[in-house]
Parts: sequence; C-alpha cells; structure tokens
Amino acid sequence: MSLAPRSSRAWWRDAVTYQIYIRSFADANGDGKGDVEGIRSRLPYLKALGVDAIWITPWYPSPQNDHGYDVADYMDIEPDYGTLDDAKHLIKEAHDLGIRVIVDIVPNHSSDQHPWFQEALAAEPGSPARERYIFRDGKGPNGDLPPNNWNAVFGGPAWHRITEKDGKPGQWFLHLFAIEQPDFNWENPEVREYFEGVLKFWLDIGVDGFRIDVAHGMIKADGLPDTPEKDSPEMLAAVSMPFWDQDGVHEIYRSWRKILDSYSGDRMAVAEAWVSPASRIARYLRHDELANSFNFDFLTSPWDVVTLRERIDSSLAAIKEVGAPASWVFNNHDVVRSVDRFALGLTPGSGETTLDRQGDPAKLDLNLGIKRARAGALLMLALPGGAYIYQGEELALPEVRDIPENRLTDPRWRMSNFTDRGRDGCRVPLPWKNDADGAFGFSSNAKLPPHEAWLPQSNWWGSFSVESQEKNNDSTLHLYRKALAIRASEEGLGDGPMTWIDLGKDLLAFTRPGNFLCVVNFGDEISLPSGEVLLSSAPLDRGRLPRDTAVWIRTS
Ligand code: NOJ
Repeated sequence: MSLAPRSSRAWWRDAVTYQIYIRSFADANGDGKGDVEGIRSRLPYLKALGVDAIWITPWYPSPQNDHGYDVADYMDIEPDYGTLDDAKHLIKEAHDLGIRVIVDIVPNHSSDQHPWFQEALAAEPGSPARERYIFRDGKGPNGDLPPNNWNAVFGGPAWHRITEKDGKPGQWFLHLFAIEQPDFNWENPEVREYFEGVLKFWLDIGVDGFRIDVAHGMIKADGLPDTPEKDSPEMLAAVSMPFWDQDGVHEIYRSWRKILDSYSGDRMAVAEAWVSPASRIARYLRHDELANSFNFDFLTSPWDVVTLRERIDSSLAAIKEVGAPASWVFNNHDVVRSVDRFALGLTPGSGETTLDRQGDPAKLDLNLGIKRARAGALLMLALPGGAYIYQGEELALPEVRDIPENRLTDPRWRMSNFTDRGRDGCRVPLPWKNDADGAFGFSSNAKLPPHEAWLPQSNWWGSFSVESQEKNNDSTLHLYRKALAIRASEEGLGDGPMTWIDLGKDLLAFTRPGNFLCVVNFGDEISLPSGEVLLSSAPLDRGRLPRDTAVWIRTS
C-alpha cells in the first residue's frame, strides 16, 4: 500500500500523543488533585512542547478506587475534576491550538457504584439486571467455592460473593481487577448498545478518539474454563488465558470502527491490548478495526540493542501485513518509569516477582537512566509511525520510591496483601516550579505543601520541574521540544519507510527519507557518521558518539 503525503493522510498515522494522567497533571481549584481547568491552563505548555494530541485518562464520575478506571457514569465529568462544560471548553481550546483530544473509555468493567451494578445487586439471580455483568453460582455443596480458579490482576481471587436480598450468601461476580470493578457481560447486546451510545456521546461533543482500556479483555472464553496457572495474571500473559485476546473482541471493534468512520475528521481508537507476539497485535489494527495499538513489546524491552532491534522488526513486519502505522511507547501510568527501568534492566508486565518489577533502588544509577531515556526518546521519535509520551517523560522524571506506605493508594497495594507497592510511584503530581509553594506549582493553592498533594511529592521533586528545565537549554524538556519541532518539519519522519544501516553490533542505525539518519549507541564510543548533526541526546565528544547516546544526522 503506498502512503499518502503526511498532510493528506489520517493524523493518527504520525501523531505524537501526550498522555495526561488528570489527577496528577495540574490542579486549578486548589484541592491537591488535578482537574480539567488545570489541563486547560497548561495547553500553551503542550503547544510549545509540540505534541499533536493529548490522551486524558478517565475523567468520569468515579469513587476513585482505581483512580477513574472504575467508572460510575460514562457520560459526565467527575465533580472533583470539573463539569461537562469545562470539558467542552477544553476540547474547543485544544482544537483551536491544533491539538486533538483522545479520551479514555473503560468498557471491560464499571465501578460497583454504576447504577447498573447496583440494580444487579438488588435483582434476582438470572434476572436481566444480573445479565449485564458476569454473575455465577458458586461451586461446592453450598456454592461457597468460586465458579473457577481465576485470579484478579491486582491480586487475590477474581470472584466476589454477594449477599442476596434474603441475607444469605449468594452468587459470585467476576472482577478481573479490583472488587469494586465488576466485569461487564459483553455477550449481552444491551451492553454493546450502551457503549455505542457512550462513543457517540463523546464523538458528538467533539473528541477525536478513544483509548480503549483493557481492549483485549472484554470477551471471556465460553464456559469460563480454569486458567492454566494459578498466579495473578499479568496484563501481558506468558501463556494463553481464557480472558485475554479472545477472538470475539474483534467483532466489537468492527462495529466501533463503523461508528468512528460515520463522523468526519478521522476519528480513531487506540487499543490498550497487552498481547504478544506482534502478529496478535496486528489483528486489532485490521483496516476495519482500530487505528493504533500501543506497542507493549517495545515498552517491555530492556535497554538492549538486540532486543530492541528484534522487537522493532517484528512489530513493523506484523503491522505491514495490515497496513497500520506503528505506535511506539515507553511509558504510561501503569509501569515503572523508563528512567529507572533502563538503568536497572527491568521488563514490566512479563511475569516477574514484585521486587523485580520495581527494581532494587540501591542499584539505581539515576544519571545512567536519564541518559538512556533521552537516547530512547530520539530513537522512538525517529521510528516510523506515531508515538505516545506519558506526562513527565519529557522531564525525564524518575520513579518516586519514597512514598510512605500509609499514603499508597493503588488497589494493587491492598489486593496484594501489602506486598506490591503498586503504580503510585509513576503517578506523583507533576513539578511545574522549583520552589515548593503550591506543591511545586502543581496546585493553584500556593499554601499546599508538597506532601499534601493527593500523592506526596518528595523534596527533590522541584529539581526536575518545568521551571528548572526551561532555564537550561540542555535539559530533557528542551531536548523533547527540539526533537518534536524537527519531527514536525521533516516530511520523512512519522509513518513511512525506514532502512537499517549496519554500523556495528552495538548500534541501532537507520535512515528515513530526506537523508535523515538516526544512530543509537549501546556500546563503546564510536566516530560519528558524517553529516550535519541535527540533534543529540547527550553532548558529543569531539566528533565521537558516546555510549547510551542517540543522534539525528542529515547525511550529505
Ligand atoms: C489498565 C489501566 O491502564 C490501569 O490503570 C487500570 O488499573 C486497569 N486497566 C483497569 O482498568
């Protein structure tokens, strides 16, 4: 398939999308939690950064048991975050600045406070209200054993037994995540219709797309058979699981694509589908399904030349089959930040123990992590296709490891029986200013101390602030701004062809159209290939490219 010029192809083939974890981005009403107005106030920052789109994590009314991924009302805004009118203003202002807006949709499960679930609890077994979720009788003579051996992703059993109206122990319901997140029954047409209505509601308001939460999880294998292993499943399972990546999910996306295509403006959806190998991801990207799917093979790669090259190749080969663009990603709100991962050799989501997932802080060389993360940024932004950046990645924020245990909020913490500290360390509110007032500028309330933001910020947080980095032309923030500006002006970047160049076994080197060369050095210092240096992730030492450094070069 030949590719149309960048100006006339769908925007999502090339876009750099910035993920906003709303609770931690910017707090305009001074309550220590981020909000819609906070995002609006920072649109000029995002414009100056040079991103094409923003993805806003769930902003719907929610009891916040999983910080918005437990939705109580899919068609309104969480009062702590603002109003629907605020959301409409934000979308309009973003559009006026040329920034597209993607919202998160959470179709695998709702909050237990969703009216449908409350109705189901009050209804009889077998009633239509129970049929919207996955209720089953228990096993054993008194039904006091769960219906099967499934465990929840956050730890513990994936089934919870309810008390029926007569006060007796009753049926069990499925929750692949927290108990407060009951799974919908996607075999029920009423659930499908409901979500089609949710999509249309937000499309009518003007959103450009959706990030689909747990996109590989909505359909469960017939008969809910036991899993082959008893441990809590990882999102990216090493073996086939009866609730991940079932063929039936594709029918849902075919119907969603028809809805997206019925609107003007190349509306899109991006799948959070933790599936592997790459050929399975490509199935979500067939021409009548979704636009993008996060490349988790890439995200879970260690900082290793062989693994990265192999995963880039396999991803590109798989999506080529279906004519889809790549969607590179190194960070999101669920994984240890790449600064730490790259320094410690961590590979999230692939079945390690908790300690391995977070890494040993005593072994952490922060400067090394930052150096690699900066090189990774130039790699990611030069590869064909689009990219997703998680807030704070442009500041090279490290994982925060000193949140006191009594302040941890991730449901993983309690559901793992307090053995897994969970994901709070990558969700600490952003540092905008170097002085501590207003939680390092995160909050409009200048009196809010850093430890009173919804997740406490550490003393050292301000040194990574936007304010500090703006003053330093060599900062990671400036690196991202320069890289995104070059990317915007280079017709050959974004989607399109790339060609590997062999410069040695410790290097990733490839060209893009327009005499553009990207070289990433994982080994000993080498002489720079000839040409004009457009950008480098670290200072170049008298014409030499140091280890863990990337460079963009205009050849001839
Ligand atoms: C994936 C989301 O990214 C994560 O934050 C959430 O906890 C689970 N899905 C459950 O919705």
